[in-house]
Amino acid sequence: MLTVAMCMALVACLQAQELRGHVSVILLGATGDLAKKYLWQGLFQLYLDEVGKGYSFSFHGAALTSTKQGQEFITKVLESLTCPEDMVPGRCAELRGQFQQLSRYRRLRTNEDYMALSKDIEAQLEHKGLREAGRVFYFSVPPFAYADIARSINSSCRPGPGAWLRVVLEKPFGHDHLSAQQLATELGSFFQEEEMYRVDHYLGKQAVAQILPFRDQNRKALDGLWNRHHVERVEIIMKETVDAGGRTSFYEEYGVIRDVLQNHLTEVLTLVAMELPHNVSSSEAVLQHKLQAFRALRGLQKGSAVLGQYQAYGEQVRREQQKPDSFHSLTPTFAGILVHVDNLRWEGVPFFLMSGKALDERVGYVRILFRNQAYCTQNEKRWVADQSQCLPRQIVFYIGHGELGSPAVLVSRNLFRPSLPSESWKEVEGRPGLHLFGRPLSDYYAYSPVREQDAYSVLISHIFHGRKDSFITTENLLASWVFWTPLLDSLAHEVPRLYPEGAESGHLLDFEFSGTQLRFSRQQLEQLVPGLGSAPKPSDFQVLRAKYRESPLISAWPEELIAKLADDIEATAVRAVRRFGEFHLALSGGSSPVPLLEQLATRHYGFPWAHTHLWLVDERCVPLRDPESNFQGLQAHLLQHVRVPHYNVHPMPVHLHQRLCAEEDRGAQMYASEISALVTNSSFDLVLLGMGTDGHTASLFPQSPAGLEGTQPVVLTRSPSKPHQRMSLSLPLINRARKVAVLVMGRLKREITMLVSRVGHEPKKWPISGVLPSSGQLVWYMDYEAFLG
Ligand code: BG6
Repeated sequence: MLTVAMCMALVACLQAQELRGHVSVILLGATGDLAKKYLWQGLFQLYLDEVGKGYSFSFHGAALTSTKQGQEFITKVLESLTCPEDMVPGRCAELRGQFQQLSRYRRLRTNEDYMALSKDIEAQLEHKGLREAGRVFYFSVPPFAYADIARSINSSCRPGPGAWLRVVLEKPFGHDHLSAQQLATELGSFFQEEEMYRVDHYLGKQAVAQILPFRDQNRKALDGLWNRHHVERVEIIMKETVDAGGRTSFYEEYGVIRDVLQNHLTEVLTLVAMELPHNVSSSEAVLQHKLQAFRALRGLQKGSAVLGQYQAYGEQVRREQQKPDSFHSLTPTFAGILVHVDNLRWEGVPFFLMSGKALDERVGYVRILFRNQAYCTQNEKRWVADQSQCLPRQIVFYIGHGELGSPAVLVSRNLFRPSLPSESWKEVEGRPGLHLFGRPLSDYYAYSPVREQDAYSVLISHIFHGRKDSFITTENLLASWVFWTPLLDSLAHEVPRLYPEGAESGHLLDFEFSGTQLRFSRQQLEQLVPGLGSAPKPSDFQVLRAKYRESPLISAWPEELIAKLADDIEATAVRAVRRFGEFHLALSGGSSPVPLLEQLATRHYGFPWAHTHLWLVDERCVPLRDPESNFQGLQAHLLQHVRVPHYNVHPMPVHLHQRLCAEEDRGAQMYASEISALVTNSSFDLVLLGMGTDGHTASLFPQSPAGLEGTQPVVLTRSPSKPHQRMSLSLPLINRARKVAVLVMGRLKREITMLVSRVGHEPKKWPISGVLPSSGQLVWYMDYEAFLG
């Protein structure tokens, strides 16, 4: 029968045009859920689209089930296949009949089964005198089965010379960067990169697939708008009403970030954020630009995420996986993430990614909200949608469901009239009363697909046409895991906020950002009402003033201490600028100053940065872009947030002539000359120091005599810990400063704090004890843990 059907289809092809070859599609997992729901229908759609265009087809449904059972299953599925609404019923029945004839079930278990399949395909081709165009193997099977199947295809079922092989893979593609890499390496030993098509079905959703063409076709209008100057924020959202019931064994291992954000939402993010290639129909260019977008993503930190778990989830897990009552799952079913893209186009624009189960509605969208820079003089009543610059301006790629109920592209009328391909997108008819994103539908130019298509149908067509840009390459996959894995690791023990299912969650899951941090807008009830005897809060304590080594000591809880030190630095800076027109600040590296730098960067709007010179107290002998470099810390936590003129920033010259801290390069002397040229009397206005647990300060170590005395203002030293080579201001230079602040924080410093409080001037043993400005002031800033233990 298969042969007869092939002949019929062949005749049609020959009539239409020259025969282009035969394609065999092998659907592995043909009796599974995904196949039943989407894949068979997608293959039928492929047949409908391609029939008569020169190719002939055969479809092999394969699974481990017996031939009889499998064939019965497939027969049923094939009977339920539907045609597009605009096809006349007779034609639909005819084509469905042909498709049914071309589709067969076969059991594929052993390597021999794959050999037999290959032989059958070859025999048929020979019998009919057909040329083989290619074979598609669609893996709709769990990943643990991938390797065996891949091995069998590679060894026994590749098409002959001149024909292509395409293997289609379904997620999950690993659990983190390492496992994704292992899986990729394994698959890479069987298949070439161009043979693999990793599916992310969101790339087949019509509104998502339209993002790049839309950006391309509206280049002129978007050129000036698609950037940090105009975009206020981007929201990439996928809300679901379903919960994870019935699939908790999968969900427990993955959670919402791995299940949805790492793949679907990240793909969408890259389509919005990437630079637009000149030729958007070049797969290679699109994939390359996407990769660059990944590289521009700023690393995520714990504070970039808020997590939730719907209330019934724990019980579902215990029930479905027979866990004891004491078992509590930490798996998030809801996540909001704040992403920043560190490039000139997007710097400072927040991208919110959010997804959750058991929420109040099912909807997916990408919303680009533009800043409003206009003031409208006339009364609001006279604002007209397509003219008023004061109404919200947004572009929305509406992925589906929600109030609108279908995919759409919405553009606020006060932005521009977009151009969309009229053969595939039509204007949405008016729906009085319907509001979307705060505005009536009539405020938008709104388009929906002429023919709604399921994502899998779209992707199957793209596989057939070799459109690799709709799929995930190994490079892009690993880039995504590189981005997500550190966050996933840091959140592994985080307790998600419990939320009631559906609309009951109210505002509990609303979140907001400040700087790089995301947090729930509402505190949880139990946090609002502290019980009796709850732990004291920092604000319960006064800042303590005392003396330490004969100099003023300020002690407080860390938060207060940092706030006080930042205030003092600002006051010193303002005074210096008022008197001398400039302020010379020398900063140490390490972790203690980080919260201080962040405080200065985000809370001190009156700081005279434009007149401040920043110097380094010490530096590690690594390139300045190295994460270990003190300058890099300064850049990450301060410089990128404030406006210090470039010529006022003075990194230490540790990297000269392509080598690090070589004595002959005279970097230390160069720094000393720069100081003496710019800083009056080489006397800094403020030097910020720390104290190591061995009593070191700056990069002056007990074991290394350099810099403790003598005439050299800047010295090369050795640290007992890596990287060993350092450059440092010397004690004599530090002691010329007008003011020296020593910041000491944390319990680990308790012992050295005690010890140093008792010793005299012994810099060789404890370099910190040599800090005593000759005519300036020394102030110690210690948190309670360092000072009181
Ligand atoms: C899948 C996830 O990839 O996408 C599911 O594993 C999720 O958890 C589904 O429900 C959502 O897809 P869609 O097409 O229904 O939006």
